Formats: sequence, C-alpha cells, structure tokens
Amino acid sequence: MPASLCDRQSPGDTPAVKVVASRRYPGPAFDELDDVEVLPLTTLDDALPDVEGLIVANEPVPFDLLPNLRIVANFGVGYDRIDLAACAERGVVVTNTPGVLDSATADLAFALILATRRQVVEGDRFVRSGGWTGSWSEGRLAEEVTGSTLGIVGLGRIGSAVARRARGFELRVLYTQRRRVETELAEFRDLGALLAEVDAVTIHAPLTPETERLIDARRLALLRDGACLVNTARGEIVDESALVAELVSGRIRAGLDVFAHEPHVPPEVFGLPNVVLTPHLGSATRQTREAMTRLVVDNLLALEHGEPPLTPIRG
Ligand code: DGY
Repeated sequence: MPASLCDRQSPGDTPAVKVVASRRYPGPAFDELDDVEVLPLTTLDDALPDVEGLIVANEPVPFDLLPNLRIVANFGVGYDRIDLAACAERGVVVTNTPGVLDSATADLAFALILATRRQVVEGDRFVRSGGWTGSWSEGRLAEEVTGSTLGIVGLGRIGSAVARRARGFELRVLYTQRRRVETELAEFRDLGALLAEVDAVTIHAPLTPETERLIDARRLALLRDGACLVNTARGEIVDESALVAELVSGRIRAGLDVFAHEPHVPPEVFGLPNVVLTPHLGSATRQTREAMTRLVVDNLLALEHGEPPLTPIRG
C-alpha cells in the first residue's frame, strides 16, 4: 500500500485545493480535506470554476461544469466510466485505488463460489420459510468445492488473491488472460479451454472494449452442466441476456455481485435457486472502504503539496 501523506500534511502551509465529492466517502481520512463539498453529480447545474479536485466512484466527469479541474480521484480500482482521453486532453490527472481492495474482493468472490456451490442461500431461504420439516431432499444435493477445478479470468492482483485462497481448498486452478505469465498460482488455458474444464469460473478482468461481452452465449455454452460463474468485476464482461437464459434453463449456477445496468438486476433471476445475488459488495468492508478513502485523500493532498499523485492511472 502506498505510504500515507497524512503525517506530512501541515494544514495551512499550502492553499487547500477545492474539492467536490460525489458523496461522503467513508472513514476519517475524508475529514482531512480542508475544502470539500459533497455534491451528487446529478445535482450540479452551474459551473464551479474554483473547483480543482473531484472525487467520484467511477462516474462520468462533468467537464463543462468544472472548467478548472486538475485531478479526478476515483474511489475504486475500476475506472471504465471515466473518459481518460478527455482528462488527458484537459491535463486532468486521474487516480484510482489499486491494491487496497484486493483481499476484500477476493474474499467476496470466494464467498460466492462457496455460497453458490454449497447452496448456502437456498438453504437459508428453506429454513426461514419453515420448510425444514424433514431432511434436505436428496434430489437437491450441492456440489463439492474441495478438490474441484477453478478458472480465473484475469490473474492480476485480485485474481491472484483468489488463486492464493484456492490453495486452502485444494483447488486445481487455471487462469486465462491476454498476457501469459510465469506463475506457480495457476495453469494457463485459453478462454475456451478454461471454460470447458472448470467447475467454477470467477472473473477478475477490467472492463475494456476487449473484455466487454467477452463471455458471450457461445462461451457460456462451453461451461459444463452444473458449473458456476462468479462475477465480482463488471457485469458488462458477460452477455447478461445470454447468462439469464442459461440460468433460467437451470443448466449452470451463478454468484453475481455486478450487473450490466446497475442497480438494475434482471428480474428473471430473482426466483431462481441456482443464483446468489449481492449488490456490488466486492470492496464493501469497513476496513477496505476506509483504506480506499485514505488513498483518494492522499492523492488529493499530494496535488495540494505539489507532489506527484500516488496512484495515477496512465491512460
Ligand atoms: C472497483 O474498485 O472498481 C469496485 O467496483 C468498487 O467497489
């Protein structure tokens, strides 16, 4: 994790950068900003020429209303809704929060693998509904996790954190990504071969023009019957209608934390026993969200102190 700048900050010795934050971000670091106004971006309609810093959570930047912007500090690692080319053209630096959310996101991916394959949510619903009068029907037995084969799409920081967790479950781990790497964590497969071989596949790639709808109907069809797809990355990486069709047919299972048009979730999946749904919770632990705010604030303070940003995105 990059070193915190807070110890170096001496309030008052440099003029505070005026910042707009699209909401109040969690944790004490947010209060270290001397001149910050919380303004949901949808409520902005007059230009704010004195604002030089903007905090967003992967939201489009209203350049017209912020003509003197110098930095966009993104609360999150993914920045697919921020127009990097437009920022570069205007000389606006963009930063994100890599590293600090890897464990939380990998934990959630693993939770979804376990919950989906071991029917945790289905079992919970069954108990709460008062349906537990005898034994869990033999016809609805779960699939073992230990010893099964896991595929990871994108072996970056978060994908690698998942692969490390997989060791504890004695999983055989395969990975795919554009650039093949030498690693002890997982064996390389091309995407098609990986999908055909796994019991569960988990997505950890960024959303880019190359990864949008990467997992389309044809590729979903490669998954074995009963296999499970987990997505904690971006909904748009999977063709959502094709996924819904597969889930409605009952052929595969899914653990989904992200959706193509959040917060919209295709209603067809609500009643399905083979799907576990969470509302984009990948980084949503107190510790991680506070660390993300810390990094966002440190990037803004760096600008204020005339220092280079800690985690710039190089577009
Ligand atoms: C990210 O960091 O991109 C996550 O989606 C935010 O929780």
